[in-house]
Amino acid sequence: MRAERGNTFFIHTFGCQMNQADSGIIASLLQEEGYVPVEHEAEAGIVLLNTCAVRENAVDRIEHFLQRLHGQKKRDKGLIVGVAGCIPQYQREKMFSLYPAIDFLAGPDTYRTIPSLVEQVRSGGKLSSLEFNSAETYEGVEPVRQGAISAFVPVMRGCNNMCAYCVVPFTRGRERSQPFRSVILEVQKLVASAYKEITLIGQNVNSYCDAEEGYDFAALLEAVSREAPSLRIRFTTSHPKDISESLVRTIASRPNICNSIHLPVQSGSSRMLGLMNRDHTIEEYRDKITLIRSVIPDVALSTDIIAGFCGEQEEDHQASLDLLSDIRFDSAYMFFYSTRPGTLAARTLEDDVPEPVKKRRLQEIIDLQNRISGELFHEAIGTVVEVLAESESRRSSEQLMGRTAGNRAVVFDRENYQPGDLLNVIITGATSATLTGRPIHP
Ligand code: 5AD
Ligand code: SF4
Repeated sequence: MRAERGNTFFIHTFGCQMNQADSGIIASLLQEEGYVPVEHEAEAGIVLLNTCAVRENAVDRIEHFLQRLHGQKKRDKGLIVGVAGCIPQYQREKMFSLYPAIDFLAGPDTYRTIPSLVEQVRSGGKLSSLEFNSAETYEGVEPVRQGAISAFVPVMRGCNNMCAYCVVPFTRGRERSQPFRSVILEVQKLVASAYKEITLIGQNVNSYCDAEEGYDFAALLEAVSREAPSLRIRFTTSHPKDISESLVRTIASRPNICNSIHLPVQSGSSRMLGLMNRDHTIEEYRDKITLIRSVIPDVALSTDIIAGFCGEQEEDHQASLDLLSDIRFDSAYMFFYSTRPGTLAARTLEDDVPEPVKKRRLQEIIDLQNRISGELFHEAIGTVVEVLAESESRRSSEQLMGRTAGNRAVVFDRENYQPGDLLNVIITGATSATLTGRPIHP
């Protein structure tokens, strides 16, 4: 029984879109060496967790998985368990003693070693491969992709900023960009494979810089949009300091680049942004938003915000609420601060906002943002939006779910449409997270 499934693998992916893309790279590297993906963990001889270390609760989730897998390994002696991505890069070999289920560890720069780690683990022992390699972009690895409609294309990896709360520089290392020609080659393949949407991704996607010719992100985005004129082009995540006027003008001038920008702000208070080492004030952030809205009037903006960072006073929190009220983001990812050992904040600042206060502030932020999103979504009722159908709706096979260019989810009557179709939908209803409607025909 074991011999039959010894070469099969299953990957659980946690965390950001970069991690989703990385799981596609790992799957590709394993398949090249003859390993076979399976649909369910129970069928797999090798179980991999591709992990996220960004917040404490992401780490807690992994713990739960590893305890369960430990029980499973007692019953199934040949099962191999590997942990990849940000947590092992961060916690390193101490993970072996914390979680006895683990056979091997691989960091974000060492996925190429995974097939050989699996081989070596078979001959006994526990192994890790956790070197940083700031030249590694996985150029030439053809990732295995989920679905045939929408594709992530990693264009840069790592992060050279040192935001005080953030673990990413310690887990993903220095910034490095995928060569321009290799991104274009990948885009050409996606066009040939009839994909409908491409999302260029990177921890700071707009810090992209091609080492050979010096192309910046605006140049890359423009070239990608021309290479794939009938596909929707998106990108994430952007850092405010690298939102240039030329990037904004490129988005406005190319019809297939979605008018949608995810621009994490983290706090509405310049004092907090200083403590967070964000490299800009809130006035500078507001100026960027003014620039973006003046050039792209129908832009959909979204953000990330943290409640209760070190030293946050009520007036700083109020400044975050004021910012949300003023900007009226379409949506936001909202978190309360959790210390990440080793980060600048953990080393130099006191985590002094009591947990109940953090949670209360976060709740106020969530309540306000949900109200704003609800209002904006309600304003869409009666309008006609262009939707890319992605999948069947979770509730009914009679309905499809798709997204507007501004990334709003729309559930609509299926009629004869299929996932992958681009169609016009008249909006008839809204919550703070979803629009509903029906197709209209030209
Ligand atoms: N605590 C809470 N939120 C965090 N983020 C990053 N690090 C932390 C932390 N230590 C949030 C930021 C970032 C998003 C990916 O996660 O808002 O933009
Ligand atoms: Fe999580 Fe950050 Fe790693 Fe993505 S890069 S998986 S968000 S820690």
